[in-house]
Amino acid sequence: MEKTARLIIDGKTYELQVVEGSEGERAIDISSLRKETGLITLDPGYANTGCCKSSITFMDGEKGILRYRGIPVEQLAEKATFKETAYLLIHGKLPNTKELKRYSMLLNDHSLVHEDMKAFYTKFPRASHPMGILSAMVNALRSFYPELNNQTEEEEIMITMTRLMAKIRTMAAMSYKISRGHKVIYPRPDLSYCENFLNMMFDTPVMPYKINSLEVNALRVFWILHADHEQNCSTSSVRMVGSARVNLYAAISAGIAALWGPLHGGANQAVIEMLTMIHDSGGGYKKAIEKAKDKNDPFRLMGFGHRVYKTYDPRAKIMKKMCDGLLESLHISDPLLDIAKELENQARKDPYFIDHNLYPNVDFYAGIVLRAIGIPTNMFTVMFAIGRLPGWIAQWKESIYDPNWKISRPRQIYTGPVKRDYVAITERG
Ligand code: SDX
Repeated sequence: MEKTARLIIDGKTYELQVVEGSEGERAIDISSLRKETGLITLDPGYANTGCCKSSITFMDGEKGILRYRGIPVEQLAEKATFKETAYLLIHGKLPNTKELKRYSMLLNDHSLVHEDMKAFYTKFPRASHPMGILSAMVNALRSFYPELNNQTEEEEIMITMTRLMAKIRTMAAMSYKISRGHKVIYPRPDLSYCENFLNMMFDTPVMPYKINSLEVNALRVFWILHADHEQNCSTSSVRMVGSARVNLYAAISAGIAALWGPLHGGANQAVIEMLTMIHDSGGGYKKAIEKAKDKNDPFRLMGFGHRVYKTYDPRAKIMKKMCDGLLESLHISDPLLDIAKELENQARKDPYFIDHNLYPNVDFYAGIVLRAIGIPTNMFTVMFAIGRLPGWIAQWKESIYDPNWKISRPRQIYTGPVKRDYVAITERG
């Protein structure tokens, strides 16, 4: 395979280095392009542009492969805990017994939220979207946990990463409880990471929450499947904001904001709203498919399509399989699952979806799982954010320790008015 690429501009030939990753992906290194040629590249949406080298997550969009630090997501979903998966992503290896015990202890010790933060939550209008609250409150953590002078940068980074992993569940459950005017439930040292979240969400003084192992397992798998996904929109936002050397809380807050978008993590809520609309209109999924195909209609089939996967999203496969087992074991029948399956069935037979390589993505069945667990629809993307947090942290950590690290600052091609003079107001038309 060629180690260089040749570019001919205005009759002059330039040689650019071709770099190759550990899985054989290749890229043309254009870091000296402007200096050598005076030209830049243009790639709206960065569909053809790599922002970094990374050793965290490998995806193959054509083959539907997803691996965290080399381990297939299917194996992690079957065998790992979410805590182990978070440790794997952040530290690059699965923890041994001693490391896992220490990590569990740290996550427990830092799982409380400063009591003064409650005042913030109570002042948000009741109908505030939980993603807006979470982004704001994560950013506020720096005010409550400022950098300490007696800590090295390494210690500050380590404690901040652990604090975020420990507190994000408590913060999410708090916004739910306070939005309903209910008593805030505190994390408990005797519960696992996933059990604690469900208990903080659903326990009440008059009706103690009974830990349901099926729901806990579904949440474990859900969070593992969402834990990282290389340079997606929200992760790229965390890297971009983090590149200015701002604190991790602010960078993660930016990632939460990006994930909120309906084209990104907000799609899991949009899928359920779409399926409900189809259900309430008598199950007319055919109309939804026709609208999705209509170029003049902005409607998209939510939960379908992906920038990287041009085949079935491996996470959607696991999520779909989990739906059947979970609903059956919980003795729940959800009409939206039947509509989702029929919608998928019809779409995947339609030439438009086949020609555009549009398959279900992680969000298509995610909402069915969350509904079965009892998570309210407006909290679906918060659930995605909690799952993605270890991935954001791992990617941020990799970027700040990258020896080639610099502030991210893309260029542009200007297409506005050429030079012209200021015109006094009295002479303007
Ligand atoms: C996530 O990047 C990640 O890894 C993200 C994520 C992660 O884990 O971080 O996987 C999580 O965000 C999953 C995606 C959730 N979003 C949705 O489900 C929203 C619906 N999907 C689409 O909006 C779209 O597929 C995107 C946003 C996911 C991807 O968009 P692209 O890659 O920019 O593709 P595009 O918009 O350029 O579409 C290419 C073509 C277009 O048709 P043409 O103009 O070429 O004829 O495919 C069509 C689009 O109109 N198309 C769809 C469609 N998705 C793409 N048509 C109908 N319904 C859809 N869902």
